[in-house]
Amino acid sequence: MIIVRNKRDLRRERQKQSGKVVFVPTMGALHAGHQALMECARREAGSEGLVIVSIFVNPTQFDRAEDLENYPSTFKQDLAVCEAAGVDLVFAPLADEIYEGDSSVVVTESMLSTTLCGARRPGHFDGVCTVVLKLYNLTHPDVMVFGKKDFQQVAVIQRMVRDLDLPVEILPVETVREENGLALSSRNTRLSSEAYAEAPSIYATLQQCARELQGGAMEPAEILGRFEEVFQELQTETRIDYVELVDAETMQPLTEFGSKDAILAVAVFFDDIRLIDHITVQTP
Ligand code: PAF
Repeated sequence: MIIVRNKRDLRRERQKQSGKVVFVPTMGALHAGHQALMECARREAGSEGLVIVSIFVNPTQFDRAEDLENYPSTFKQDLAVCEAAGVDLVFAPLADEIYEGDSSVVVTESMLSTTLCGARRPGHFDGVCTVVLKLYNLTHPDVMVFGKKDFQQVAVIQRMVRDLDLPVEILPVETVREENGLALSSRNTRLSSEAYAEAPSIYATLQQCARELQGGAMEPAEILGRFEEVFQELQTETRIDYVELVDAETMQPLTEFGSKDAILAVAVFFDDIRLIDHITVQTP
């Protein structure tokens, strides 16, 4: 496995490759969810192709300085995860390698990113789109792999790819969960043991609401109350950032369920750690 730290070396290694290139952008702190993305990339590239992983904590997508400061950094272990998943090339640049000090161009998606995380984290998706486009330009992959856990991110990137005519396929990969349902996230390592033990209630409540919505036993307006009831019972201090039922294509809020597939999405602070999760609610 080759590790490169700057754009020049990345371009040089990329130019050597004429076969299929599959790229997995990450911010490090890699876990089994990332490993699934890399294994999928390896299968997609085949034994002749090139799998590139970037490890770059992108400062422009953080809306809270303390979130960026506290973002876990586990570079040595990350390299071991990449190696075990059969990655060929790791691109691990420093921030000043990626952004010019006076950079003044930003990519903005202006529809799908206006709700959910986009509405609560100003500038977040501008940062994501801009860095993903830059990384795309540096790696020129045939396929880019993303986790479905960040479903709004996947939708926004697919829209960028469509609207900017980028010749790349986006391959979304299923969320990896603990046996108790907790979605794997780099942030889970920052949870207290109590919060970690109680966090599976997020997915359990999503599942329960999805079942009731599908069975007609719950209206969208009742969802927030259900989450509040569940979280009130926990020992951990929680604060709901949002719980919303949205149209699975447009990401716009739905006040009724039944005619279209929907996504029920939640973002909640467990102590001060913001966790997100979602479930697809199919029409009956
Ligand atoms: O999903 C992530 O880890 C990041 O948003 C990404 C896609 C690597 C861009 O920094």
